[in-house]
Amino acid sequence: MYQVYVRSFLDSTGDGIGDLAGVRAGLPYLKKLGVDGIWLSPFYPSPQHDHGYDVADYCDVDPVFGDLAEFDRLVTGARRLGIKVLLDIVPNHCSSEHPWFCEALAAAPGSAARARFHFAEGRGPHGEEPPNNWHAMFGGPAWTRVTEPDGSPGQWYLHMFTPEQPDLNWRNPEVGAHFDHVLRFWLDRGVDGFRIDVAAGLFKHPELPDSPDPEADARTRDSVNPLAWNQPEVHDVWRHWRSVCEEYTARDGQERLLVGEVSVPTAREHALYVRPDELHQAFFFDLLGAPWDADQFRKVISEAMQDIAGTGSTVTWVLNNHDQVRTVTRYGDHGTEGSGLGTARARAAALLMLALPGAAYLYQGEELGLAEVLDLPDEVLTDPIFRRTGSRARIRDGCRVPLPWSGHASPFGFSADAVDVKPWLPQPDWFAEHATDRALADTSSFWHLYRDGLQLRHSLPQLGEGTLRWLESAPGVLSFARGDGLVCAVNFGTAPVPAPVSGAPLLASGSCPAGLLPGSTAAWWISDDTSHNTDDSMGLSR
Ligand code: NOJ
Repeated sequence: MYQVYVRSFLDSTGDGIGDLAGVRAGLPYLKKLGVDGIWLSPFYPSPQHDHGYDVADYCDVDPVFGDLAEFDRLVTGARRLGIKVLLDIVPNHCSSEHPWFCEALAAAPGSAARARFHFAEGRGPHGEEPPNNWHAMFGGPAWTRVTEPDGSPGQWYLHMFTPEQPDLNWRNPEVGAHFDHVLRFWLDRGVDGFRIDVAAGLFKHPELPDSPDPEADARTRDSVNPLAWNQPEVHDVWRHWRSVCEEYTARDGQERLLVGEVSVPTAREHALYVRPDELHQAFFFDLLGAPWDADQFRKVISEAMQDIAGTGSTVTWVLNNHDQVRTVTRYGDHGTEGSGLGTARARAAALLMLALPGAAYLYQGEELGLAEVLDLPDEVLTDPIFRRTGSRARIRDGCRVPLPWSGHASPFGFSADAVDVKPWLPQPDWFAEHATDRALADTSSFWHLYRDGLQLRHSLPQLGEGTLRWLESAPGVLSFARGDGLVCAVNFGTAPVPAPVSGAPLLASGSCPAGLLPGSTAAWWISDDTSHNTDDSMGLSR
């Protein structure tokens, strides 16, 4: 699956912002790459305080991105090419400009309109302290005080992200009923499923008690407050959403897919979200969080295979997304100034991920080997985390810079035929090296590695679903077998090691001299030699 960050994919109107018509124009490119489907980042009407994760209307298209007719054309175009379409649905919170929240602000404390959110009286003699000590994920308190319609200082409302993203109260049945309507609205328009934002959120501890470590979420940038996330009631919602999907499947035989953004402390808890009657998939972020180290990768993969795949569900792997520093940079490179090490490692990691049992999600630009854009000037940064942490955290803009498609200067074909357009985030000159036209023409490019890997995933029965068997390997090397005779090995070190299989690899992330696996390189072989020793030292032979 391929994540399309709509505002940065392809701009059909020349306003410097990607749009749905741009996505449609890019479908043949994605078909050529070989993806099974796309996940579209939010394109709903929104004041864009968090790039569309602040939804003002769940059943429409923001004019910046197009309209419903254009959306329908995109779905038709994708279907024609056999590409599935997933929408990003944001049920934990809406926009402060959503009609429900406007109504709540205009209504009195205790009203039905306020009961759709978490409104509460403040603490302190005059209610001047927030109702509890929770901090928001993006920094600052998780509560904002409102002014009541009569002008007096009033209640507080909860927002686990920015104040412009009030959390919905899922204990109120009206909220669930609204999202039923939203799901059906888009399923009726032909979408194949949903990526669910903050899928371990939705419910909060019913008493909203103080947290012993209120800043943990902001400090770790992870949803770790056990009172605010991962409450048991959320599983009922996913069971219900699954039943809605099954209802559509029963009508036309086409499977629908729910993939959750699930951030929970352990793989065991993660597995609960992908039980047979809940989500089909949930992103397993531990691989993304692992440093470039063979032991750490092995530990993460082993845990996932044991605790998630071991219970009969699928592991959904991801190395990049719109919230994270890109792999090329995380593993060591900085734009063109880098040593090439980050690029070599990111290529190797890609082959590793594509060889693992389960699903894989790519983030746009990953197939071009883009590095993070690290030198964006402060004034162009739009990530609310930057604003809310007093300009300390420059985290999420650098992976969201509009894609380069062609040519030698910005906008690199991003804005249709226009040349004098400024994309919404400035593209660095070195993007020229990564433009899709160059990538397609160069068979040694990152793009070809992904294309070849995806083709093999389609054609080889050993890849995709199934099991994994670790093979004995030298320190710093991971080697495993898939199904009947497919071996994948990754050399995390810098010096070459003997290849685990003699003969030329089927696919390699770098050049492999006969019998060797160079440093920072991964390769796949088909081997009929069954003498590879299984290494079950971590208790894993699945
Ligand atoms: C997760 C999304 O991936 C991120 O971009 C967004 O800011 C938060 N959820 C809040 O919706």
